[in-house]
Amino acid sequence: MSERHVLYPGSFDPVTLGHLDILHRALDLFDRVTVAVASRGKADFLPPEERVALLAEAIADRPGCRVVTFSGLLVDEARRQKVCAVVRGIRTSADYEHEWSLAGVNQRLAPGSEYVYLLARPELAAISSTLVRDVARHGGSVAELVPAKVADAVRRHYKR
Ligand code: COA
Repeated sequence: MSERHVLYPGSFDPVTLGHLDILHRALDLFDRVTVAVASRGKADFLPPEERVALLAEAIADRPGCRVVTFSGLLVDEARRQKVCAVVRGIRTSADYEHEWSLAGVNQRLAPGSEYVYLLARPELAAISSTLVRDVARHGGSVAELVPAKVADAVRRHYKR
């Protein structure tokens, strides 16, 4: 059977324990995962290069994973990376509706493209990058929400 290589895209601004759980589970299921970090443009909190470095460090012990930045359409990046599917995590019914509409448009842009969804573990489903940024901005601890290196980076960002 040919190698099963998938793309895991997102903004990861910053990467959370929820994202990492999805990534580890995708690595258990597929041969290779390319994590594609999208810029949020002016809304960027951490620069994309720093998000890539934090993700790469968090996943350094897992072979079969690499982290890249991307801009432009997701379907074009999926084609460029020659993946067999795109993996996304779903935490809530709101995520489901969002993904339903993204996949609907992406499948029109790239007929035949495949999307695989992993349900977030309940204990991680409340975490979002927005809440991580908000807790840190108000001086709270994000140690339970992100890896230690990411918590340091977020803290440094607010000290600047
Ligand atoms: N654990 C924790 N948080 C999670 C999560 C999980 N398992 N899964 C998603 N999230 C959070 C993210 O942290 C983010 O939180 P925030 O809004 O608080 O920052 C939120 O869910 C949205 O996820 P994210 O994947 O970053 O953004 P998105 O849903 O906007 O999609 C792309 C990002 C890159 C996939 C999408 O913007 C895209 O495809 N861009 C390319 C342009 C394109 O092709 N557009 C046409 C699409 S039809």
